Amino acid sequence: MKALILAGGKGTRLRPITFSMAKQLVPVANKPVLFYGLEAVAEAGIREVGIIVGDTAAEIQHAVGDGSRWGVQATYIPQPEPLGLAHAVLTAEPFLQDEPFLMYLGDNLITSSLKPLVEAFEQRQPNALILLAEVPNPQEFGVAELQGERVVRLIEKPKHPPSNLALVGVYLFDKHIFEAARAIKPSWRGELEITDAIQYLIDKGYAVESQQITGWWKDTGSLDALLEANRLVLEDLKPSNEGVLEATQLHGRVSIGAGSVLKRCTVRGPAIIGANCYLEDCYIGSFTAIGDGVRLVECEIEYSIVLEGSSVENIETRIEGSLLGKNVSVRGGAKRPRTLRLMLGDSSLVEMP
Ligand code: G1P
Repeated sequence: MKALILAGGKGTRLRPITFSMAKQLVPVANKPVLFYGLEAVAEAGIREVGIIVGDTAAEIQHAVGDGSRWGVQATYIPQPEPLGLAHAVLTAEPFLQDEPFLMYLGDNLITSSLKPLVEAFEQRQPNALILLAEVPNPQEFGVAELQGERVVRLIEKPKHPPSNLALVGVYLFDKHIFEAARAIKPSWRGELEITDAIQYLIDKGYAVESQQITGWWKDTGSLDALLEANRLVLEDLKPSNEGVLEATQLHGRVSIGAGSVLKRCTVRGPAIIGANCYLEDCYIGSFTAIGDGVRLVECEIEYSIVLEGSSVENIETRIEGSLLGKNVSVRGGAKRPRTLRLMLGDSSLVEMP
């Protein structure tokens, strides 16, 4: 069995962060989302991994390298244009050839092991095996309609969802998916949808099985989902401290990287602080991930992600539910008149209390 990891796409829902960064490399608990997928694939015993890349190919390749860090062999497959998941499958046909494969969407995060899934596929040999999860917002996903255990219909982003069972971004296919991907037409969003390709398999009488996911699953393509994924990963954080603390209190599970200094701070875990950070007179609340080399002075941050090299200084209002990109500066001050001075990139979002 091979794996196909999809790491192309534009990441429009995470702009402006994704103007300068692949959405699959945005960190969750200080680790790129994509790395969780690579770990899961390796843990399932798969060694040959094709990675579909688009505009951000160089960045993805730089981060993943030859895959040896995970014990896998990575092959990069450029997709000239993001024309849909089924189009990505066709693009990867020369790499996949006739072998069954596991397809993993690089911005998806799933905690349960993929091993039982791979084993079930190898034992029963259906033509496709899909994963389903109950979600509160099915209209944002591909949605399955079941009759008993049988999948009868799949619809991409339905206005009136027939169920609350979303298609998780992990699929197992045999070679018939190529026939399906070639047969379908682009959807209203101009993409060859994998959902439509699986529907084709169903319509042609191929064996399409489904399994409901047991652990949690997040598509990290939007800010809210990314913060939730960060929270869920931090729930399992192991505490560790390689930094220097001065008059600082740590509550609960906190991880602090080497070379970081915390003076007169309170950190309420679960929270992770990277290496070489400088924090002074701060409160860091639960479910916060602070990247490497971040400087925080006189501020409060909770349930947020701050990427490497950023700084936040003298902000009276607590920062919450936020994502700060790399090398961002947020500076406050007590001077009057109190004005706002902003230099924001395209698609930035500022919400004042
Ligand atoms: C894609 C699939 C959708 C699936 C989702 C999971 O959506 O088309 O069926 O439910 O991934 O993350 P997209 O991220 O392209 O909107």
